Amino acid sequence: MADVDIKGLHKVFDRTEAVRGIDLSIKDNEFVILVGPSGCGKSTVLRMIAGL
Ligand SMILES: Nc1ncnc2c1ncn2[C@@H]1O[C@H](COP(=O)(O)OP(=O)(O)O)[C@@H](O)[C@H]1O
Ligand SMILES: [Mg+2]
Repeated sequence: MADVDIKGLHKVFDRTEAVRGIDLSIKDNEFVILVGPSGCGKSTVLRMIAGL
């Protein structure tokens, strides 16, 4: 089992608020994509979860 359960994820680079309060719940074997405009924080969220 490898569930991911995140509440209130937040990341600030110096003065840039890259991620503001993400809640994300992914069940084992679920396929999830993050969609949004450039710069909205998708890569930052993935790096914080998986160290990409
Ligand atoms: N290492 C970093 N240092 C400073 N600011 C960063 C860094 N990585 C990302 N950012 C900033 O954080 C915000 C989110 O970036 P990012 O997660 O790359 O967005 P996306 O992947 O959705 O395009 C942007 O404003 C970006 O400029
Ligand atoms: Mg990206």
